[in-house]
Parts: sequence; structure tokens; C-alpha cells
Amino acid sequence: MRTRILRIDADKPQKEKIAQAATAIRKGKVVVFPTETVYGIGANALDARACREIFRVKGREGDNPLIVHVSDMEMACGIGRIDGRNRKILARVWPAPLTVVVKSTGKVPRSVTGGLDTIAIRMPDNKVALELIGKAGVPIAAPSANPSKMPSSTAFRHALRYFKGKVDVIIGSKDSRLGLESTVLDLRTFAILRPGVFTKRDIETAFGRKARVDAVTKGEKGVTKAISPGTKYRHYAPSTPLFMYTGRKSALTGILSGIRTRYAFIGTDEACSMLPIGKGRKIQLGRRRDMGDIARNLFDALIRVDSIGADFAVVESFSDSGIGLAIMNRLRKASSHSGFSDAKGLLILLKRYGIGAHEDNKVQSSH
Ligand code: TXA
Ligand code: MG
Repeated sequence: MRTRILRIDADKPQKEKIAQAATAIRKGKVVVFPTETVYGIGANALDARACREIFRVKGREGDNPLIVHVSDMEMACGIGRIDGRNRKILARVWPAPLTVVVKSTGKVPRSVTGGLDTIAIRMPDNKVALELIGKAGVPIAAPSANPSKMPSSTAFRHALRYFKGKVDVIIGSKDSRLGLESTVLDLRTFAILRPGVFTKRDIETAFGRKARVDAVTKGEKGVTKAISPGTKYRHYAPSTPLFMYTGRKSALTGILSGIRTRYAFIGTDEACSMLPIGKGRKIQLGRRRDMGDIARNLFDALIRVDSIGADFAVVESFSDSGIGLAIMNRLRKASSHSGFSDAKGLLILLKRYGIGAHEDNKVQSSH
């Protein structure tokens, strides 16, 4: 398939290019477009056939519902039952990296919402996205622009690599401002189904109500109950086996010093500067205290790590508070819940994954 590439200015979207992309949406085509969180792969949400193509191109399971994007409140209320109070709050909060799950009005076909009678709706805080939806005049169903299970696209170059030749249109614009997918909040139970940069505290401030956070929100292991269908699948994983280090920061260099196989490291600038390995094997996420930077750089790091050609990679862990909850949710999944806190734990992982001749890896005691 020939993919049309449209470079669109993030601050002053060119009208004629927006019109071309909007026409493609109206014709039932698939369009990759930027949002403030990650790039999305979108189609007319009212067109079941067009949306089926998204599932096919992504290799996404049919029971994993798509988020439907709107450009105004009227569009949102056409597809989801949002009560008066929440309508007022959302009118204030949106556009924002916050998706809400409500009962569907039935206007969006069931196949788009994974067979559920609920629908996830969001108004993205990105000019190109808003103008595209507005001009198309229909809600746009769009999951993150990545093949199923792989890290999400936060830059035009990621989307291009994943989908050139596979979709009708790719819009190239600025890198995603936030870098992690939107927070998904179930308005019926007030549970956070997926944490994002719009934090628990942001939700509670906006809605004046305590939000629920549980094992699903954290992305913890063994959570099979499909409250949010997307949470039960493997996710965000690079091809390089990724292990999360949860021990004391100061002990890491010692633990890794006996490793004889080629490994890569993803972590804060501080941790990177401590590790005595070549620059080409370290991916810096930003300074430890700038959690926004770390969130923004995370998916690019998970994509780039595969080009290092390492036998495995180690990623630093973070606290589960604030944006950290969203970062850790992605990292727990990206590392397939393989974590270690000391030398023995790392050796067990190397053995389990059959990495290198693990007998050669004389990992010294961390004490
Ligand atoms: O930031 C984002 O949300 C991006 C951009 C493109 O807007 N989109 C995105 O979509 O991340 P996706 O498909 O990758 O993630 C959608 C998540 C999944 O975990 C899915 O299970 C959940 O939202 N979801 C969608 N509809 C739902 C519903 N009716 N009930 C519960 N969870 C739902
Ligand atoms: Mg996704």
C-alpha cells in the first residue's frame, strides 16, 4: 500500500493538509495522527469496517476496545452517556490526557468497543488531532500507533517505522508532549483502569472525589481479571529481554560488574553516570527528579534498546507516586514482571531466559 505522508505544523496546522486527512477518515481510511500522549492509529469510529482495519493492521485482539476521540462535548455526548455533573467537569478538564469510560449510547458499533456496552472517550490536547476530528466531523477511534504488544509511538519516526506501507495516511508532526498514553478512568466505579500523566491527584482535584487505585492500575503480575481488557495482554515489550532493578541504587554497579555478556541499561542520568559501561549501551531517560522527562523519553528508550544488540537490558525502577505510577505500570509490563533486587535475583533471571553462558556471569554479592 502507498502511504501518503502529510507533514503538519503542530502550532499552525495547514488547513489543506488537515482537509486531506479528514477526507481520508470520511472515506473509511486509516490515518496515523499525533496526540499529546502518543501517536494514534485512527479511523471513523462510526464505520465498523474502517475500524476493523485498525485491529488487523495492529494485530490487536478483537475484545480489546478502542478509545474514541472527540473534538467537542456534543460529539462526546452523542456516543457516551455522560451525566450532567460529569459533563460540566469534563467541559472544564478537556482537552486533556484523560479518557473516561461510560455507558455507550450505541452509536459506535460494538465491534469498536470490544463487544462491550461501555465506551472509552477522550478529547486530546493537540491542535492537529482536534482539527482533524473537527474537520472530519465524526468521532475517531484510535489506539496507540504501535503493532500490538510493542512500545507505543511517541514520534513521527516511530510511526513511520511501524506503519509505512500499511496505512493510508501518516501525519508527521512534533514528538508527543507527554509520552505516555492517557489515564483511563471508569466513571461508573471511579477506578483508574490505566494510570497516565493525568494523575490520581489531578482526577481527585477535578472531580472532588477519591479515585480507586488497585493492582490493575499498578500493572502488577497475576492480574487476569479483565476490567479494562487491554490490561490483560503483554505490552510495551522490546525484543531484548528487559529486567527491572528494584534494589538499592548504590548497589547496582556492584551487581552488574560480574556480568560477562553484553547488556544495556535504561535509567536516569544519575544512574547512567555511575555505570562503567560504554555510552552506546546506556539510554538516559532524564534527571531523576524530572519525572515528566522520564515519562516523555520512556517509549523511545524501549524502542531504541533493540538496536543496541544486547543480550538483555536492565531498567531502573521508580516510586509509584504521581507520574511514577504510570511509568511503573508501563515498566512492569515491558519487563514482563521480571525484576531483581540483588545479584542472586539477576542470575536466576539470566538462567530462566537462557542468556549467555550464565555460568560465566560471576555476579558478585551485592553486599
Ligand atoms: O493516550 C491514549 O489514550 C492513546 C492516544 C492515541 O489517544 N490511545 C491509546 O489507546 O492508548 P489504546 O487502544 O492503546 O489503549 C486503550 C485502553 C486499553 O487498555 C483498553 O482496554 C481501554 O483503553 N479501554 C477502551 N475501551 C474501554 C472500555 N469500554 N472499558 C474499559 N477499558 C477500555
Ligand atoms: Mg496501546
